[in-house]
Amino acid sequence: MEARAGDGARALLRVLRDLPGEVCPEEPLAPHTTFRIGGRAAALYRPPTADALVEAVVRARSHGFPWLLLGGGSKVLVPDRGFPGLVLSTAELRSWREEDGVLVAGAGVPLSRVARWGGWKLAGIPGTVGGAVTMNAGTRYGSIGEQVLWVRALLPDGRVRTFAPVECGFAYRDSLFRRLRLPVLSVALRPDRRGDLAPLLAERARTQPLDLPSAGCVFRNPPGQSAGWLIDQAGLKGARIGDAVVSERHANFICNLGHARARDVLELVDLVQDRVVSRFGVRLRLELEVVGA
Ligand code: EPU
Repeated sequence: MEARAGDGARALLRVLRDLPGEVCPEEPLAPHTTFRIGGRAAALYRPPTADALVEAVVRARSHGFPWLLLGGGSKVLVPDRGFPGLVLSTAELRSWREEDGVLVAGAGVPLSRVARWGGWKLAGIPGTVGGAVTMNAGTRYGSIGEQVLWVRALLPDGRVRTFAPVECGFAYRDSLFRRLRLPVLSVALRPDRRGDLAPLLAERARTQPLDLPSAGCVFRNPPGQSAGWLIDQAGLKGARIGDAVVSERHANFICNLGHARARDVLELVDLVQDRVVSRFGVRLRLELEVVGA
């Protein structure tokens, strides 16, 4: 494997060689994203423990490799050229502990499991706990930040720190961890209202194009407005570039019809932004994380 890898991959394999778990050189990233778009990473590493993740980030930093944390891959657009550094997947960080009604979950725990445990409002949101906390994922019924008791995250100097809720800087689809790019390692949550998830899941399936690969809502809702409504009213449903299309079911979704490239999606994003500005004077901001932007 190493013999076929490029220079960046070989150097990364060397730097990470004694760490536990799997390092995959030249790994295609499209299968790791819900959009099913994107080129290869120089290497992808799935650390089996939070300590291994911390060590990998510290080494990547000290050797000057670009690095990127990937959770469920549900809100990212990876460029067609890929990522010239280390992608760290939290897929193996699935620790799960309940104590006195409090859940302590590893960053890689699927959010759907938390929704069933005690996060009614999170029903139907894809992705992982770490990604959800980083972007304060939510629905119109609330966001995950409201349930957070503490977050353990990695600081730029390599230390791990526990953040109290007031220190997390939660805002609409935003947090300190997103702004400062601090990898979330684990999270303590209190349960939210428990309830039947089925009606929420059914509403999602009725109003959102869940049958095609996408990254969910592409744009943030401007204060007091709905991005989906604005895009719809600008006549953009069905607008298509390559295999990227503005969904007919929910206009804030861009779907991959099969072979969409990141470039197609970005051109469609520009088109939507331009049309909505000229029609309503509102500049839509991306909720989607564009890697390398
Ligand atoms: N609307 C249209 N046309 C469309 C889509 C929506 O007219 O194509 C109208 C709807 O009729 C409704 C309004 O816009 O009156 C709001 O639409 P919706 O109820 O679907 O909610 P949303 O604000 O578009 C938000 C979240 C979704 C989340 C839903 C349900 C954002 C950007 N979006 O959507 O989150 O699933 O509420 O709680 O906050 C995501 O973040 O990926 C996502 C899908």
